[in-house]
Amino acid sequence: MKPLSRRLSSPKRHLPLKTPLQRAHRRDHTLSALWDLGCGGSPASAPARRQRSFSVRLGLAGVAIWAATWIWPAGVLAQDTPDYFRQNCMNCHTIGGGRLTGPDLKDVTQRKDRAWLVNFMVNPKAVIDSGDAYARKILEESRNVPMPTLPGLNKDRAERLLDLIEAESKLPESQFKGLQISQEPFTDADRQRGRAIFLGHVRLEAGGAACISCHTMHDTPALGGGRLGPDLTNVFERLKGRKSISAWLMAPGTETMLPIFKNHPIRAAEIHALTAYFEASASESPAEPAADRVTFLLTGLAGAVALVFGLDAIWKHRFHSVRRTLVDQASMRGRR
Ligand code: HEC
Ligand code: HEC
Repeated sequence: MKPLSRRLSSPKRHLPLKTPLQRAHRRDHTLSALWDLGCGGSPASAPARRQRSFSVRLGLAGVAIWAATWIWPAGVLAQDTPDYFRQNCMNCHTIGGGRLTGPDLKDVTQRKDRAWLVNFMVNPKAVIDSGDAYARKILEESRNVPMPTLPGLNKDRAERLLDLIEAESKLPESQFKGLQISQEPFTDADRQRGRAIFLGHVRLEAGGAACISCHTMHDTPALGGGRLGPDLTNVFERLKGRKSISAWLMAPGTETMLPIFKNHPIRAAEIHALTAYFEASASESPAEPAADRVTFLLTGLAGAVALVFGLDAIWKHRFHSVRRTLVDQASMRGRR
């Protein structure tokens, strides 16, 4: 079969299908059949027919392209390397725009050989765990925030990413120089809004899950926060300040958060507010997890005790009354 594009660009060569029934039977040639329908065999006047068939063809081409984007293995289109870089790397790396969470990747292939880089990109954890000295050094320079293992990043793609990084490094200004991050000073309103967003009192516009379902902060109400993710009280410091935390939140690259926020990105205004809140909390100390666990235990214990006493009170009463009737009945019988 000819590639779709060829078939679309050679309208003269449609298949000789005559009746709609015949066409319906040619399932494997659906697109060609659609095309034929567009070319029409109806006995309308020539210019009108030409005009109609042109617009129908245009419409059909649109439908076909739309269908192709769905039918084509999703990967083929998403594999486009610059897009992949934009979606998966830009939240932590720039090319020539300075470090974010991770190092600036400009000229990285001159700092370290390709084989090592490919290996590292495909499985950063394994390389770090192997005790490799260079990996330890760049990990330390990133304040011990490790690069996550990224979905779909195999050797082949890593090679293509390095080609891209190499080419972009040569440009006077790379398209991956950096993200548009708000420079406005933070206000009290920003900080309050950030807290409200964190707590889920204000919903995330794109529908992502509220941070509190997995995280805590120093001022999260007792028992309020989730435990899946770390406490974020000092995250401003940990992720190296405003620029890199904002970039990080534009596309959270961790294994747990990536799948959630990829399709529900946190909006720029929300990032601004959250960052204001994180900055303000930077000097606080995180909620003591041990103390929290004690609170949790004590609350649980108090609840259990209350329950036991409550049930006891109810049952004692019921038990007495049942026994009383039994005793009464027995003594009545005894008297007879
Ligand atoms: C969540 C943040 C994050 C994401 C997302 C991320 N990286 Fe990294 N990357 C890091 C950090 C941090 C380091 C430094 C080493 C370490 O701490 O593990 C690093 C190191 C690297 C290095 C070695 C840099 C050097 O100076 O030798 C390369 C190359 C690299 N990353 C490429 C990529 C590519 C390509 C992507 C996207 C497919 C990507 N990274 C996605 C955080 C990230
Ligand atoms: C479904 C659970 C979940 C939700 C919801 C969630 N996170 Fe996370 N987050 C995690 C986990 C788990 C980690 C730790 C890294 C990992 O394993 O993915 C994390 C890590 C982070 C980090 C990096 C912390 C560090 O020290 O490296 C930041 C920042 C962060 N989350 C911010 C947020 C914000 C802001 C929100 C709300 C908009 C949010 N998260 C919502 C689960 C979640």
